[in-house]
Amino acid sequence: MKNISILDLQEKKEKSEKITMLTAYDATFAKIVDQAGVDMILVGDSLGMVIQGEPNTLSVSLDDMAYHTRAVARGAKRAHIVADMPFMTYQHDIKEAMLNASKLLKTGAHSVKLEGGRNIVSTVKALTESGIPVTGHLGLTPQSVHALSGFRKQGRTEDAAKRISEDALMLEKAGAYAIVLECVPDELAKQITKTLMIPTIGIGAGPQCDGQVLVLYDLLGLNPEFKPSFVKQYLNGAALIQQACEAYVTEVKQRDFP
Ligand code: KIV
Repeated sequence: MKNISILDLQEKKEKSEKITMLTAYDATFAKIVDQAGVDMILVGDSLGMVIQGEPNTLSVSLDDMAYHTRAVARGAKRAHIVADMPFMTYQHDIKEAMLNASKLLKTGAHSVKLEGGRNIVSTVKALTESGIPVTGHLGLTPQSVHALSGFRKQGRTEDAAKRISEDALMLEKAGAYAIVLECVPDELAKQITKTLMIPTIGIGAGPQCDGQVLVLYDLLGLNPEFKPSFVKQYLNGAALIQQACEAYVTEVKQRDFP
């Protein structure tokens, strides 16, 4: 089976077909998500939080990303796999960024995602020109959590919104094939989506983006305490899994299983 390509994603935008993206970090979930028909699987550096239990994504390493990307690539047959480039693996040297991105493609990603705008334009250009497709990521960029003073909505003032719009255009011009817009006002996401030729994929950015992305563990309700307004829990996963584990504990203690 052929994986969804960046051309297929572009065609979806042109036909006004919504693009779906979910995160996955291992082969088992990647297989389920893939068979559910998502277009894109993001091996997000959110794994630092939902898998590793860290308070943010800053400690995720390139080796962590390569390990999880390899697992996801084994599970998924159809979706386009995007791997996040972790904090400080692409910001300070273009050659290093190219080597690091190529490592993620060698482990099975079809493209990489980088956070930032005008500051990374030359890196995005170098990557795309060397055959590595790039997704941008603007708005709330979690790797800048400290510079942004926390996980807060971005682009609320006229100046901030203008800067994000300009960054989006610069990324498109540099060759990015899609842009994730995280936690920006709906109206700003709508305007960027209309202006860009390439697809936008929103999270907490309203319904007008060309696609939507959610962290799988949020969708499944595996961490029910984390419930910002833009997350929809489609399953009460934590409670269901706990019930199953409790049933197992009870049955073993009561000698009902095995
Ligand atoms: O790492 C991640 O899961 C992400 C999404 C929230 C877009 O970047």
